[in-house]
Amino acid sequence: MGTLTNKRILLGITGGIAAYKSADTVRRLRDAGAEVRAIMTAAATEFITPLTLQAVSGHPVHRQLLDAEPGQRPTDAGAQDGMDHIELARWADALLVAPASANFLARLAQGRADDLLSAVCLATQAPVAVAPAMNRQMWSNAATQANLATLGKNGIRIFGPAEGSQACGETGPGRMLEPAELVTQISQLFVTGELDGLSVMVTAGPTWEAIDPVRGLTNRSSGKMGYAVAQAAAEAGARVILVSGPTALADPERVQTVRVSSAQEMYDAVHAHVGTANIFIGVAAVADYRPSQIADNKIKKDAQNITLELTRNPDILASIAALKPAPFTVGFAAETEDVEQRARRKRESKNLDLIAANRVGTNLGFGSEENSLLLIGQDGVTPLPIQPKTQLARALIRHIAVKYHATRTAGVRQIRR
Ligand code: PMT
Repeated sequence: MGTLTNKRILLGITGGIAAYKSADTVRRLRDAGAEVRAIMTAAATEFITPLTLQAVSGHPVHRQLLDAEPGQRPTDAGAQDGMDHIELARWADALLVAPASANFLARLAQGRADDLLSAVCLATQAPVAVAPAMNRQMWSNAATQANLATLGKNGIRIFGPAEGSQACGETGPGRMLEPAELVTQISQLFVTGELDGLSVMVTAGPTWEAIDPVRGLTNRSSGKMGYAVAQAAAEAGARVILVSGPTALADPERVQTVRVSSAQEMYDAVHAHVGTANIFIGVAAVADYRPSQIADNKIKKDAQNITLELTRNPDILASIAALKPAPFTVGFAAETEDVEQRARRKRESKNLDLIAANRVGTNLGFGSEENSLLLIGQDGVTPLPIQPKTQLARALIRHIAVKYHATRTAGVRQIRR
């Protein structure tokens, strides 16, 4: 897997000769594992066609702030696919404007929102980076430098520019960084360092409780939430062990993944590897019960009714919280009703530092791309609104990092109730 696996990158393309490199930038971002959508300004389309960007990104190119013109309606072939500037802004994990012309930098510095790209830059909470590309005199001009200073002050990252021969025949600073370097720099945005030097264990996915050689009890957990949490912890600098039930997902990058099947196997793997973990996060939907007997052969359908006797599985999360010393222990609570009350009771009965409650049985939770969480700790409740699970996982890891460091700075393991 690449350094941008599961990342959603919005690539903004403005008018400049370096726009011809945008197709290569998209290809390299996708090779690194990212999903890419492109926004082009009107000037950019003079240098490279939207069709080229659509072909390499695999998505329609976004061009209009208002999509009312014929040919730009969501239903028209080749037009934008119904995401408005707010949806695009929310969708992105990072926004890279490459090439960024002198004119676009000036408009961004002013906070203009009169075309789609500038409006998305204003509306997004994701990190924004620009890769300037222009003639060396335009780059050195005091107005451009003042705009760059403003952008830097506003938290916009500036990638480059490089020095060298320019399309205008001059030599000097102002060349856009090469696509490979842009991919390296955008990957760095996701490395936070919040959990540097710490060890984190995450459980994810469902468990499979065999009834006979071909049948079993399981649930609808896809593993997406747990894998996103494992990856976010790795991005935050932690050494991560993911103990996963059966899923269709690839192993997350920079994460040691241990595959198991049943709840008992998950329990055994967790205890075999938990070692000196500083933080434990139980995202797995572990089966509470397993069949008391596993039939050696496929059960025949001779009888009209059969009875399956079930035995209680060990509670992995509670067993970790009971260790002495225990890691900072975080559970999830999947609830269909009275979400906060039930999650609170779970946190107390399992003696957890934190519980992340989600309402399931709707279109969120199991199997969905998006989710929302209610983080319940000793000192209060923090809601994390609906967003893609990858972004939600990063917000959760940020919260855990703050709480973990607070308890350790205080020098005591907090009494959790
Ligand atoms: O995988 P996805 O499709 O992305 O869906 C994500 C999710 C809905 C599965 C996830 O967000 C979630 O809610 N995970 C917890 C599911 C669950 O089993 O909840 P619970 O309320 O039954 O369990 C409470 C906690 O105890 C959980 O942390 C669970 O991992 C843990 N547990 C439960 C039983 C058991 N025998 N051992 C455990 O460790």
